[in-house]
Amino acid sequence: MIKVRVPATSANIGPGFDALGMAFDLYNTYTFEVIPSGLEITGCPEEYCNEDNLVFLAFKKALDYMERDLDFGIRIGIQSDIPVSRGLGSSAVCIVGGIAGAGEILGGKLSLDEIIEIATEIEGHPDNVSPAVLGGVVISIMEDNKVYHNKIDVKDGLKFMALIPDFPLSTEKARAVLPTTYSREDAIYNISRTSLLLSVLSNGRFDLIKYAIKDRIHQPYRGDLIPGYHEIMEECESLGCLGTYLSGAGPTIMTLHDGNNPELKKELEKFLSTLKDKWAVIELNMDNEGIKVTKE
Ligand code: HSE
Repeated sequence: MIKVRVPATSANIGPGFDALGMAFDLYNTYTFEVIPSGLEITGCPEEYCNEDNLVFLAFKKALDYMERDLDFGIRIGIQSDIPVSRGLGSSAVCIVGGIAGAGEILGGKLSLDEIIEIATEIEGHPDNVSPAVLGGVVISIMEDNKVYHNKIDVKDGLKFMALIPDFPLSTEKARAVLPTTYSREDAIYNISRTSLLLSVLSNGRFDLIKYAIKDRIHQPYRGDLIPGYHEIMEECESLGCLGTYLSGAGPTIMTLHDGNNPELKKELEKFLSTLKDKWAVIELNMDNEGIKVTKE
């Protein structure tokens, strides 16, 4: 049996829209086993245990890429800890898991770069895919339909809390509210902050994160789709967090801190309990490993 563990990811990291992403120590695990015939999927709601399952679709797409027919049966086991449609990369994680599983079932035929390429073709953009495969903070760009990526070293000491509401937000809806053009001023605003953010993550000038993490490309437009967004951003700042951003397309809000306030989680939970919707606070660390394959 092949086991593939894939980390949750948080795309954009504030100003790096469709380019930056980070992996976290929250995982989905998929198992793949060849069986005589047919498709068996376990571990997810009945309605997804069929040929439309995203893990299976990605598995099949990877077989196509390797020019192999599905001339064998497959059993896929799914263990999901990553909440769906919350801005934590769950769809990229399913896709990466299915592709990596197919590569391993055929004897390790796919490189990490190939997994990223195939997954990006399905997902449409690489910013969740690359860190899900490689771990850490990864910058990805597209050029002539090919993904070029680079992982940076992040200085130790950053801690994260994911504030996750009990309602989903579809990426499609969150992309539909974005403008199609931006002013030169807004472009400069984001280019300068993205550059600053990457430098402070790598050299540890965490005091600059609060300036570097601001964004004018997507957050101002998406914030209004998330009840409580503006209040939460303000509260995180007044509680002394290093910086706060909308994780991916939302609705999860990610706040960064230095770990020096042992009461931070409780203080956030207390504030969130005053809001109309239910919000959970999950403490996270960066995952630096990416996909992990084991054989049993
Ligand atoms: N960069 C993407 C977005 C991530 O913000 O729409 C979500 O898939």
